[in-house]
Order: sequence, then C-alpha cells, then structure tokens
Amino acid sequence: MNFRGRWVLVTGASSGLGLEMARVLAREHGANILAVARREDRLLALRDELAPKYGVQVVPLIADLSQPGEPQRLFEAAVAGRDVYGVILNAGVTFFGHALEQSPEDFQKMLATNVSSLVELSRLFTGHLSARGTPGGIMLVSSMAGLSPLPYQTAYAATKAFVISYGRGLAFELRKTGVSVTVFAPGGIATEMLELSGLSRGFKAGDLGIMAADTCARLAVDAFARRRELYVPGALNRFLALAMKVLPQGFMIARSAGVYEGSLKPRP
Ligand SMILES: NC(=O)c1ccc[n+]([C@@H]2O[C@H](COP(=O)([O-])OP(=O)(O)OC[C@H]3O[C@@H](n4cnc5c(N)ncnc54)[C@H](OP(=O)(O)O)[C@@H]3O)[C@@H](O)[C@H]2O)c1
Repeated sequence: MNFRGRWVLVTGASSGLGLEMARVLAREHGANILAVARREDRLLALRDELAPKYGVQVVPLIADLSQPGEPQRLFEAAVAGRDVYGVILNAGVTFFGHALEQSPEDFQKMLATNVSSLVELSRLFTGHLSARGTPGGIMLVSSMAGLSPLPYQTAYAATKAFVISYGRGLAFELRKTGVSVTVFAPGGIATEMLELSGLSRGFKAGDLGIMAADTCARLAVDAFARRRELYVPGALNRFLALAMKVLPQGFMIARSAGVYEGSLKPRP
C-alpha cells in the first residue's frame, strides 16, 4: 500500500500503539489521519503535533466504540467528502484478574469495543475501500493472547482469538476485491493498557518481551503496507508463537498462568 496523501483511519489513536501508528503514518508515509478515540484533548494534541510538522491533515473523530450505533456514526463522519484508503481497527481494552470477577457490564463493553465494533466497521468500510480505483486495506489489531487461551486475561484472550479467526476468514472472502485484511498480533507492549489493567504490577517497559510502542507501531504499519495476512512482530514473539503451535496447549496455558499469577491482586 502507498499511504502518501491518502486518508488512513486509526481507532484508539489517543494513546499507546494507535497513537504511535498515527505518528509513523504521518512522519514516514505522509498519510492524512482520521484519529478516533473518546478523549478529545489527546486527539487535538495529536493533530497539533502532526499537522504542522509533516504537512498532513489530521481530523479528530470522537467515538465511544463500546456503544451501539457508534460504528455507523463514525463511518458516516469518516467518509463524508473523503476517500478513505486504510482502516486500522486498533482500539481495545483488557481485563486482568479472575475471569468471574469481571462484571457483566464491563464484559459487554469489552466485547463491543474489541469485537462487535470491528465486525461492524469492517462491514461498513469494505464497500467503500473496494469502490475506489486502488483498493485499500483494513488492519485488525489482535494480540498474541489470541493465539492460545490465557488465564487471568481469559475473556480478553477470547476476544482476540475471535479477531484472528474473523480477520483471516474475511481476508480470504475479500481476496478478489483487492481489499486486504491484515491481522496484527503483538505480544506485550509498553502502553497505558498495562497501567489501566494492573498488568504493570508485573510487567513494565524495558522488560524482556515488552516492546516499546513506537517500535511495535513501525512494524505494524509495515505489515499493513505489505498487506500481510497475519503478522506477529519481533523474533522472540514469533518463537513463542511457534512454541504455542507445537507444544501441548495445556502446558502453554499453565506456563502463561504462572507468569501472571505473581502480578494478580490478592483476592479479598
Ligand atoms: N499493550 C499490550 O501489551 C498489547 C498487547 C497486544 C495487543 N494489544 C492491543 O493493542 C491495541 C491498542 O492497545 P494499547 O496497548 O495501545 O492500549 P492503550 O494505550 O490503553 O490504548 C487503547 C486505545 O483504545 C481506545 N479505546 C478504548 N476504549 C475505547 C472505546 N470504547 N471507544 C473508542 N476508543 C477506545 C483508547 O482511547 P480513549 O480511552 O481515549 O477512548 C486508546 O486510544 C488493543 O487492541 C490491544 O488489545 C496491546
């Protein structure tokens, strides 16, 4: 894909991986950005940072993807008078803890943000992306947590497994339209997600296996540009992904649980 002078929508652009992908797209590819998230102040700051520095356009679009109707409203706002070429569906939330301690309301929000909004936005954007002269692409941000069940991020890992399965199936179905679907599945990244979820009790920037967000973003944008179908960034992560394929799943589940148990909040 060639992003120069074209519009790329990035959900979750207010922090972490999404923010860094927007920076890479503007700085290294000269892309115009549709920056999506709930926190308007962060998106305005991103616009003020990128637009003058790289001569690109940045349009903040405020949306709460956990709410019904928001994907449709976002799609209409994004394509109003614009030809969108790339769609990166990156916004996501996790829950770290015992699965049964996640409230039903919190779970529904996670499901809508991580799963339903991706399905809905993929459906809405595909027609738009295939109607243009040069077909565009969609990138769905999953996680290595989607490659194998993951105790203490149990529901989150299940949402990310959905994203891998859905993205790969959709890529096949769309192969004749020219619209590519890339699934990006990173391991740990040093972002706000670690703080918000409590994972930072055990994992922090600089730890082995925790990638810097800007490094991860560059690899993500590169995988998207090359229209890769499934991409796990980093040699160590790819080695782990291979181990997940060849070692007995029960063994891998127990190993992952062991890594997390030390960082869990003590149960009341
Ligand atoms: N960090 C990791 O270790 C890791 C590992 C593998 C995969 N991932 C995946 O990478 C993606 C980005 O995560 P991150 O690590 O960069 O986390 P982050 O720093 O917490 O960023 C999450 C982004 O999603 C947005 N978001 C959350 N809920 C939203 C909602 N209801 N509506 C709209 N936007 C919403 C947030 O913006 P607002 O709060 O402003 O709305 C924020 O911009 C996620 O899909 C995550 O699952 C992360």
